[in-house]
Amino acid sequence: MAMNIERDLHMATGDGQTSYTRNSRIQEKAFFQIKPILEKATRDVYTALLPRTMIVADLGCSSGPNTLCFISEVIGTIARYCKEVGLPHDHPQLQFFLNDLPSNDFNNLFKLVERFNKLTARNHQGEAPPPCYISGLPGSYYTRLFPRQSVHLFHSLFCLQWRSHAPEGVKGTRKTHQDKGDIYITKTTSPTLVKLFQQQFQRDIALFLKLRYEELVFGGHIILTCIGRKHEDVLRGESNHHLYGLLAQSLQSLVDEGLLKKEKLDSFYLPVYSPSIGEVVAIVEKSGMFNMNHIKLFETDWDPESHAVHDSVSSGVNVARCIRAVMEPLIASYFGETILDRLFKEYAHRVAKHLEKEKTKHAVIVLSMKKRCYMKTGTYSSNSFTESLQRAMIYGIRKRKLPL
Ligand SMILES: C[S@@+](CC[C@H](N)C(=O)[O-])C[C@H]1O[C@@H](n2cnc3c(N)ncnc32)[C@H](O)[C@@H]1O
Repeated sequence: MAMNIERDLHMATGDGQTSYTRNSRIQEKAFFQIKPILEKATRDVYTALLPRTMIVADLGCSSGPNTLCFISEVIGTIARYCKEVGLPHDHPQLQFFLNDLPSNDFNNLFKLVERFNKLTARNHQGEAPPPCYISGLPGSYYTRLFPRQSVHLFHSLFCLQWRSHAPEGVKGTRKTHQDKGDIYITKTTSPTLVKLFQQQFQRDIALFLKLRYEELVFGGHIILTCIGRKHEDVLRGESNHHLYGLLAQSLQSLVDEGLLKKEKLDSFYLPVYSPSIGEVVAIVEKSGMFNMNHIKLFETDWDPESHAVHDSVSSGVNVARCIRAVMEPLIASYFGETILDRLFKEYAHRVAKHLEKEKTKHAVIVLSMKKRCYMKTGTYSSNSFTESLQRAMIYGIRKRKLPL
């Protein structure tokens, strides 16, 4: 059966040992790193907002606790701001939309939301937290999700490396001799296949930017954090080559043992692409729709527990658990559930061997940007008087001085 992302892609469901809920520490650690960027964007949006009703969306929220850390951070930033500037009667109202594909485990997420609401009320004893309304929003972020100009802040953590399809032209077709055994780009991948992965990335991101541009209010912010790569040269061996290369080798070993059909592996590609900073900047600039406030790359260990664990065998198990929580449903839908335990045991072993040689880290790109008033044409200046004026009109003229 051919892969269908909307049907087959979701993180491991529930809250059991192998669930995403219990195995999303890599993402949580990355979120910790981007907090100052989120705080700045939240303040920027909130201070320019009248009435004080803020619409916020987390795209690709999944079913684990990280999306609630995001909500908590936004609420905390606004509560702190109101206290600092002495606006006890500011009465912010916050609406959060938690978006993911329809196959996401929204039931588990809603249980976490219920617990979160109770905790938030308790944490703010004495001072009421800003009223906050949280809703689920199933649908692909490669489609329109919101009415025109209705969202103030978009956030997405560890999602945009996922493509809407496996590269066009590769889906369901046999691999060439050169690309045999690959499920993602490796050092030896043919230029034709590399181009297909890159074109899919460019199409997806250009569409994503266009859709979010339509949905954001002018001056609205968007913060995107995804798995990327350090070097511009896509064929240079990097973290994700190894991470997915070891998964490909584990699948191959199941073929060798007769547990998996060779033809199945020959028609499988991961629907992912890890861009470089240069590729991200090029696509945003080409769109002309956003001003980039901040872009940076940071690294985080493959094993999120590595500060506590120093032996490669335990790290292999930890990494395999994290990757399984992300990949399991997709792999199960394509190859069947029966191989999962064997596959990830093999994978843990191979990761451990790799980590003995090299302590590889994920490269993570974070990009914070703001919607332009006009699409860029010629020598447009982002700080122009026109933009400030438009922003004032769109947000509503306030009695206090506008933070232009
Ligand atoms: C690794 S998880 C990250 C989840 C969460 N943001 C976190 O940091 O814990 C990636 C999520 O992106 C979602 N995703 C991938 N493609 C998507 C799409 N086209 N539309 C909506 N969600 C998508 C997946 O279903 C998955 O839940």
